[in-house]
Amino acid sequence: MNLNVKKIPFNKTFVVRHPVLRANRPVEECYFEGDELPSTTHFGLFDQDNLVGVLSVFENKHPNFNEGKVFQIRGMALLKEYQNKNLGVILLNKAEAYVNTQKGTVIWFNAREKAVNFYKKNGFQIKGTLFEIPQIGSHYLMFKQLT
Ligand SMILES: CC(C)(COP(=O)(O)OP(=O)(O)OC[C@H]1O[C@@H](n2cnc3c(N)ncnc32)[C@H](O)[C@@H]1OP(=O)(O)O)[C@@H](O)C(=O)NCCC(=O)NCCS
Repeated sequence: MNLNVKKIPFNKTFVVRHPVLRANRPVEECYFEGDELPSTTHFGLFDQDNLVGVLSVFENKHPNFNEGKVFQIRGMALLKEYQNKNLGVILLNKAEAYVNTQKGTVIWFNAREKAVNFYKKNGFQIKGTLFEIPQIGSHYLMFKQLT
């Protein structure tokens, strides 16, 4: 593997979002509100020239997190053959470093139940109880306060 992370335009994320996060659904469902905003940044994990993972960072407040400059991460996904190899942290760290450069106060997101351990081991914590996102599944609100 020859891995590197680059910023990518939002429509490139669909190559990974579609099979991993919206399998068997119309590709239009891979679009997230705010994807195209200048304040949104998309990161791609490449193996050589192949895009194998994506993660997007949105400037977006949440009712529980509304002080200062608040960021949401969405669309964290690795292609199947790149999962469970400790690679997701590369994108997560990149996103966190970017938010720090933006003087962000907090990062929050809705985590799939199955991914909670991944985020916990990278310093994020759960807030509140399990809730359902229709057609997608059970999620926890998770966050990290930045200094
Ligand atoms: C969730 C996701 C981003 C995590 O990234 P990842 O690089 O696969 O995560 P890791 O490899 O660090 O950890 C995943 C699991 O693999 C295990 N693992 C890590 N390295 C391993 C290795 N070398 N050998 C075997 N297992 C390993 C970890 O113990 C972990 O298990 P746990 O969750 O029970 O603790 C990725 O798996 C993914 O894209 N999943 C599908 C989409 C998804 O659910 N996205 C999250 C939306 S909120």
